[in-house]
Amino acid sequence: MTIIWSTRKLLISIFASCLVYVACGKADPHFHVRGVNLGGWLLVEGWIKPSLIHGIPNKDLLDGTYLRLKSVKAGKFLCPGTNGGRLALTNQKSSTKLIFRLWRINESNFHFRLHNKKFMGLQSSKKGSYIVPVSKEPGRSETFQILKYNHRSTRIRIKAPNGFFLQVNKEGHVTADSKGDGGWRDDDPSVFEMKIGRQFDGEFQVTNGYGKFAPKVMREHWNTFITEDDFKFMSSNGINTVRIPVGWWIAFDPTPPAPYVGGSLKALDNAFSWARKYGMKVIIDLHAAPGSQTNSAVSSSRDGFVEWGQTDQNIQETVDVIDFLTARYAKHPSLYAVELLNEPCAPYVTLEKLKKYYRAGYNAVRKHSSTAYVIMASRMQYGMKPIDPTELFPLARELKGSAIDVHYYQIFMPVFKKMNHQQNIDFLYTNTSVELNRLIKPNNPQIFIGEWATEWGTANLAHPNLSKKTIEDYKKFGKAQLQVYGKATFGWAYWTLKCPFSHLSFEWMIKNGYLKL
Ligand SMILES: *[C@@H]1O[C@H](CO)[C@@H](O)[C@H](O)[C@H]1NC(C)=O
Ligand SMILES: *[C@@H]1O[C@H](CO)[C@@H](O)[C@H](O)[C@H]1NC(C)=O
Ligand SMILES: *[C@@H]1O[C@H](CO)[C@@H](O)[C@H](O)[C@H]1NC(C)=O
Repeated sequence: MTIIWSTRKLLISIFASCLVYVACGKADPHFHVRGVNLGGWLLVEGWIKPSLIHGIPNKDLLDGTYLRLKSVKAGKFLCPGTNGGRLALTNQKSSTKLIFRLWRINESNFHFRLHNKKFMGLQSSKKGSYIVPVSKEPGRSETFQILKYNHRSTRIRIKAPNGFFLQVNKEGHVTADSKGDGGWRDDDPSVFEMKIGRQFDGEFQVTNGYGKFAPKVMREHWNTFITEDDFKFMSSNGINTVRIPVGWWIAFDPTPPAPYVGGSLKALDNAFSWARKYGMKVIIDLHAAPGSQTNSAVSSSRDGFVEWGQTDQNIQETVDVIDFLTARYAKHPSLYAVELLNEPCAPYVTLEKLKKYYRAGYNAVRKHSSTAYVIMASRMQYGMKPIDPTELFPLARELKGSAIDVHYYQIFMPVFKKMNHQQNIDFLYTNTSVELNRLIKPNNPQIFIGEWATEWGTANLAHPNLSKKTIEDYKKFGKAQLQVYGKATFGWAYWTLKCPFSHLSFEWMIKNGYLKL
């Protein structure tokens, strides 16, 4: 700069530009996010790419799978005894106490996690070998082998670490002392029927399921699922931003803790280069925090327990991930915002813990960038029900350059299934519109609709053509959504770019004329 300003002028000018930056985040106050999520790319969600699951051996026994185990001979289910007692039979059929959540070691060896987070373990003494709940980290004496009658069968034997199989005796006690030579018949006390309940299809399941083949499978996925052409496609169809879900282990690339594998950071680098090339912005979205902030595979939960935010150390580890990602991309012209956590699940994640983390996460972003927006997602309840996002307003008002993410889906919840097409449109124009107007008053924090999709009511996701809605219905609904969601002060992002369920795939919706921006 050749003009020498007076010190005072210079100071005023720096002060003023700081104010603008801090008050508005980005320099361009007219920018409005019209985004698409890159779901299922750097953070696996199996339903978005089912072929990722297909190649896993024993794929019905991935991490987290809920099993109930019925003794074929006794016709009753196994249940950990009360008061820390031994595994025994029960007359109950559907209590959560009957659920064993698998922790997979390899395709045949597992730990069994119980409803109270303890693990099934072997206890041997002169009086016999029993199975008891233990609270320590699972090790060798908590490792059981599942042997199927044949590879498609749900009829199994369970081999304990002492080399013997579990069996049920006449008194209904379970002992680990069968040779497993009873012939698989209905009167064989060592045979159990697995009743498979909930299953998980996230990145933990996929990488742990493939084991040593995971690096190859994941590299192939990162290189092919999203490419430069997708950025070209999005930018030429009116999209100016991508929201990219990532998992916490990306901060440890190239050597993340097992079972995760390295390489996704390189893919994120690529996304930033492509975004710059096509004039787009990037929102980095921490979708999976250590310990899992939702009870689902969406946050890479291993077994459906929400264990994020329970200790200060865990919160600090999460802040470190935000710190790492912001430091890496703070100077990149395409970095628009860092979203601190996706869909924290109430009541497991309390408002108090969440605010503590959001404040620390915000400071971590500001350490590296005065301009990147910091997005704080509002809490959700199980079943996709949002908690009132205004609970975060006082905090967001304090943290300049922050925005609040709310997700609007009109599927999944029973209330929408009961409504017909017109009622669903009315809901959008009246209820959602009223709700949004309440949120977007002048002195309120900025509102981001970080996820939505043009699907409503009863949606048969697997067979969209059975849902009896016409292309005209979709066009009308999509237009209404864009009108209503378009009011969100920060902007919006469609869920998701690619997906086998046509109406949740932005690419499909655009290419087939169902949605026009
Ligand atoms: C699975 O793990 C068990 C226990 O660590 C080990 O003994 C066994 O050899 C492994 N099996 C396979 C197929 O890798
Ligand atoms: C939508 O708003 C109308 C009018 O305020 C109200 O009567 C109705 O109960 C609301 N519907 C739902 C599902 O909340
Ligand atoms: C549904 O119909 C569309 C348009 O006719 C077609 O392209 C698509 O393959 C069909 N999807 C299924 C799952 O049958």
